[in-house]
Amino acid sequence: MSEDKSALDYFPPQLAHTSLSAAAQHCKGCDLYKDATQAVFGEGSLSAKIMFVGEQPGDEEDLSGHPFVGPAGKILRKAFDETGLDPTAAYITNVVKHFKWKPRGKRRIHEKPRLGEIAACTPWLGAEIEIVKPSVLVCLGATAAQTLFGRDFRITRMRGQWLASEFAPRSIATYHPSAILRAPNSDARDKMYSELSSDIAKAVAMANNSAI
Ligand code: URA
Ligand code: SF4
Repeated sequence: MSEDKSALDYFPPQLAHTSLSAAAQHCKGCDLYKDATQAVFGEGSLSAKIMFVGEQPGDEEDLSGHPFVGPAGKILRKAFDETGLDPTAAYITNVVKHFKWKPRGKRRIHEKPRLGEIAACTPWLGAEIEIVKPSVLVCLGATAAQTLFGRDFRITRMRGQWLASEFAPRSIATYHPSAILRAPNSDARDKMYSELSSDIAKAVAMANNSAI
C-alpha cells in the first residue's frame, strides 16, 4: 500500500465509502467472488479512532453482508462490550472481502486465502484506511498482521505490543477470535480470551486518549 496522497484525501468520506463498498460488489480482482454471495465491506464509523481488521468474511457474514456477525463476531463483540467500546463507534473490516470456502457435507468450511488473493484484495483495505484514518489499528489474527507487518509476524510472540506502521499512528495485533473457538481445551480458551480482551482494552484506552 502506498503512503502517497490521493484524490481520496479530498473525497467526502461518506461518498467515498459508499462508492467503494458499492464498487467492491462488482470486483473480480481474484476468483473468490465466484463462489461467494456478496462482498462484505467494512462497516462502522468513518471517523472511528479505532479500526479492527480480520481475515475474511465467514459463512454468516457472506449471507448477511456484514462483518463479524457470526460466532467469531460474538466473541469480538463480547470483548468490545467488556471494554465499553460501542461497535458503531469503531470501524470493522477484513483483509479479504469475499468468503473463501470449501464444501464439507452441507456446510461451507472456511479456507485460508492465498497470498495472491490477499494481494489482489488489499487495495480495498488501503482505501478504507485512507478514509477512516484511525489512530489505532488492531489486527485480528495472522492474516491481517502478516498483511500489514510482513510474513514473519507471529501472533504468539508479538501480540499485545505497540507496533510501528505506516497505516496508523499506533498499531497492535492480537488473536483472531476464531482461534479462540478452535482452542484445544477450556483452559486454553479462557487464557486466549483474556489476552484478546486485554489487548482490545489496551487499544481502546489508547484510542480514547489519542489526540490524533
Ligand atoms: N472472521 C473474520 O476474519 N472476519 C469476519 O468478518 C468474520 C469472521
Ligand atoms: Fe475482489 Fe477481493 Fe473479492 Fe477478490 S476477494 S474478487 S480482490 S473483493
